[in-house]
Amino acid sequence: MLIYRSDLSFYIEVILVNIPDKVRNLFEKQDLVAFGTADKQGIPNVVPIFWKKILDKESVILIDNFMDMTKNNVLENKNVCVSFWDAETNEAYKMKGKAVYHTEGPVYDEGKEFIQSKDPKKDPKGMVEIKINEIYSLNPGSKAGEKINS
Ligand SMILES: Cc1cc2nc3c(=O)[nH]c(=O)nc-3n(C[C@H](O)[C@H](O)[C@H](O)COP(=O)(O)O)c2cc1C
Repeated sequence: MLIYRSDLSFYIEVILVNIPDKVRNLFEKQDLVAFGTADKQGIPNVVPIFWKKILDKESVILIDNFMDMTKNNVLENKNVCVSFWDAETNEAYKMKGKAVYHTEGPVYDEGKEFIQSKDPKKDPKGMVEIKINEIYSLNPGSKAGEKINS
């Protein structure tokens, strides 16, 4: 289904997908996720991110405490990817989506409240909201790389 959602001052057209429970559970369980971005020319960048949160059925937040190139990339190219895995079970996924960077408003406030509930001293610079539109299994085997959302 094509869904239009408004942000503070602009619209993004994106086909959102529900994050399945198994994907959500692994995202929440792993300490770190790999966050891939690219600049407007497509030059890639990947960083580990610890502070992360499921925002709703179709979106996650990655919390910006130290992002530099990552933030610049998000601001000039909204296409991003988050990958996470359990090295013991080999369960692994990647979620692709469109990123929106927030420095204020409800999404920023929700991320700030989350991080400060764990560490009150944290004063995050911003929130990267990712609206998910593709999810793939990365489990090794014959189905590696298979898209799991329709
Ligand atoms: C284990 C680990 C966890 C990290 N977690 C976060 C995080 O939650 N938020 C953040 O902004 N940076 C985090 N960083 C820092 C980023 O990985 C990275 O250093 C930062 O974004 C600067 O790189 P960039 O210029 O490519 O953006 C973490 C780094 C490590 C090594």
